[in-house]
Amino acid sequence: MTRSDGYLLDNRQKEAGERFDAFTALFDPTTFRHLEGLGIGPGWRCWEVGAGGTSVVSWLAEKVGPAGQVVATDIDTSRLTPAARPPVEARVHDVGAEEPPGEGFDLVHARLVLVHVPERERALRSMIKALRPGGRLLVEDADPALQPLTCPDEYGPEQRLANRLRQGFRALLADRGAALSYGRTLPRLLRQAGLHDVEADAYFPVTSPACTALEAATVRQIRHRLVSAGLATDAEIDRHLANVESGTMDLTTAPMISAWGRKG
Ligand SMILES: C[S@@+](CC[C@H](N)C(=O)[O-])C[C@H]1O[C@@H](n2cnc3c(N)ncnc32)[C@H](O)[C@@H]1O
Repeated sequence: MTRSDGYLLDNRQKEAGERFDAFTALFDPTTFRHLEGLGIGPGWRCWEVGAGGTSVVSWLAEKVGPAGQVVATDIDTSRLTPAARPPVEARVHDVGAEEPPGEGFDLVHARLVLVHVPERERALRSMIKALRPGGRLLVEDADPALQPLTCPDEYGPEQRLANRLRQGFRALLADRGAALSYGRTLPRLLRQAGLHDVEADAYFPVTSPACTALEAATVRQIRHRLVSAGLATDAEIDRHLANVESGTMDLTTAPMISAWGRKG
């Protein structure tokens, strides 16, 4: 049993790289806008939680420069290797189970991570504990229950199948302890944790090539689990992938809620 066995979407599979590329295209502009708004700059010490791939970590490294530090943690750091040189330190770390990898951080950031961590309450406490007084927290997480459909415009059999398979994906996530309404709770959780100047907004891509790529990679990655749980047949998955790859469907993702605040 490795630490990543509890996580549905194993980083070592080829499709994980395709999913990270899609997150970059879909969410980096929003993330970078928020990080700029928080004042990220030379010399900052940052903890990137559940870092996944390299795009956010590399951007942070560029911003903080040689006088700064970016501690990039994940239960599986296999996709972080290309970015793991100063000021970036990559560490295997379970945010729900371990003490923070340092203290006195100017910034702690997690994107699309805590939804998947059953011990998310402890994780959030640990992230706040790791901040220096005045340090900034940015948590960005999906809220799949706020908008659960792949195709909100469900006008034909292709869209109905897509929405049914998305429901199956959600069921698999929930079975693993994912919190499908987590995003909307973030502002309240940050305020209750004592953070100041808490604000939040959301980004919701309605259709784009990155949404299509994300859907194809996700369904290919979880296909055996959907089939073995009786949530779909191989034939349905093949039909859905052909529909997706035809490029004629409008496919969405869940809205991503970004919430931020300052430690007093
Ligand atoms: C959906 S991906 C998001 C990756 C990246 N943050 C991004 O936005 O592109 C979730 C990441 O969280 C990591 N993860 C899952 N459970 C974790 C835990 N308990 N502690 C640390 N990382 C975890 C996964 O390995 C994966 O890299």
